[in-house]
Amino acid sequence: MRKTKTPPSSGFFYPPHAKPLTGKEGTLRATWIFLRNPIEGFGPMAYNQPIVSVPSFGKKLHVITDPEGMMQVLAAEAKKFTKTAIDARILGPATKEGLLSVHGEQWKRQRKSVAPMFAKRHMADLAPMIADVMREFKARLDVKPDVELNAAMAELTFDVLAKALLGNPQGLDKDRLKFATRKVVTSAGTLRPDDLLPLPRWMPRPISPKGSSALKQLKQAADDLLDSRDKDNPGDDLVGLLISAVDPKTGQGLSRRERRDNLIGFFIAGHETTALTLTWALYLVGMHRPTAERIRAEVQEVCGDGDITYEDMEKLAFTRAVIDETMRLYPPAPMLNRECHEETEILGRKIAVGDTFLLCNYVMHRTERLWENPNAFDPDRFIRKPELKAKGAPYMPFGAGPRICVGMAFAVMEAVMALGTLVRDYNIQIPSDCYPRPLMTVTLRPEGGVPARLVRPSN
Ligand code: HEM
Repeated sequence: MRKTKTPPSSGFFYPPHAKPLTGKEGTLRATWIFLRNPIEGFGPMAYNQPIVSVPSFGKKLHVITDPEGMMQVLAAEAKKFTKTAIDARILGPATKEGLLSVHGEQWKRQRKSVAPMFAKRHMADLAPMIADVMREFKARLDVKPDVELNAAMAELTFDVLAKALLGNPQGLDKDRLKFATRKVVTSAGTLRPDDLLPLPRWMPRPISPKGSSALKQLKQAADDLLDSRDKDNPGDDLVGLLISAVDPKTGQGLSRRERRDNLIGFFIAGHETTALTLTWALYLVGMHRPTAERIRAEVQEVCGDGDITYEDMEKLAFTRAVIDETMRLYPPAPMLNRECHEETEILGRKIAVGDTFLLCNYVMHRTERLWENPNAFDPDRFIRKPELKAKGAPYMPFGAGPRICVGMAFAVMEAVMALGTLVRDYNIQIPSDCYPRPLMTVTLRPEGGVPARLVRPSN
């Protein structure tokens, strides 16, 4: 709800919120609003009740905005659910055989093989790579301080991921990979109103010629990259780990197609989400000077003018709280979905085979009965009450249960390092009337982008 447009010098800032339905719209109008921007398609019932069930093409669609219900579907009863045809139709063309899309035994085998790539022990090795990319990014900023934040952060997080996944490969056309990934994310991978119709998984989803050519290029780039590696000695970057990844129990590795689809999945899932976290975080910090000053003071105290290291991470409690609060207000994946394959009961309600779920963390994160002053930007809430992030709390930007984001630790480390470095080293200037509508396009983007100028404090 829009409460203030001007950046305050103190007190709470109420940043943009998807306008909820009033409950007085007719069904047709409400459906139209939902199809255009799904997170604006929820009204008082979804904000006030843990579960809302509506008829949907002979089955039921259940909207859950409550932590207990989310944990039942995503964790306790997870085996009875798969992702819906929406996911399969949007992500399938790019990552059909990758972790993001597979189910059952194939998912279990892949998850076990891939999860060690993102284990804590690798994070300490990845932190210096992130610091290197930050230095290159800052050098570009010093020449060109005017940016659109979303585009700039997508560049940054893509470069971080490329360095972490690929190391410093000779001869790789990174720009080709970046261009194709961005094109896929912004064309074929963007939600359209027709995606919300209950179409079957097998029905092809029309993609624009530009989108399908980007998809082809991305697959080719990923294949070339994997083929360029020595099979016996594939390297110790994340691609190397992906090639040598095996299920610890069975010793079975991934097929060629599974490797490619996972590589593409990491690029797609791993750069856009973190880029949006940073875009919204820099927007919030740019609009709320006291927060910027606190981050700067904290980073200076912990790291001086040097790089942020892996060991510094837990000392940057406020910077981390700003990232947590950003993902509460703007979860990059604002809505998860599931389809029921075995009759069950969720929140005391009978669920039939074929029923679908919208698990709306965006609404849950902004619900009055679960959060104090939910529309205010208040990072300290996570410091006052660390339990707000505990398992089963109404805070799930990374999902929950066995399919919780596999790249979570990497994403948080990157976001804290990038936000801390940029806010310490630059003044983030954003036009005072910039108040972008959150728009769900699979991920949650600021409509129209966020223009910003990043200048060194001494300038
Ligand atoms: C702020 C950044 C990120 C956010 C908010 C985020 C969010 C999520 C969420 C909500 C899920 C669960 C989807 C579901 O259950 O339907 C997920 C899964 C996943 N994420 Fe992330 N993600 C982020 C960063 C990353 C990164 C950096 C990578 C990899 C480099 C990554 C790779 C994946 C993969 C492969 C899955 C599928 C896991 C599975 O199904 O077992 N994500 N992510």
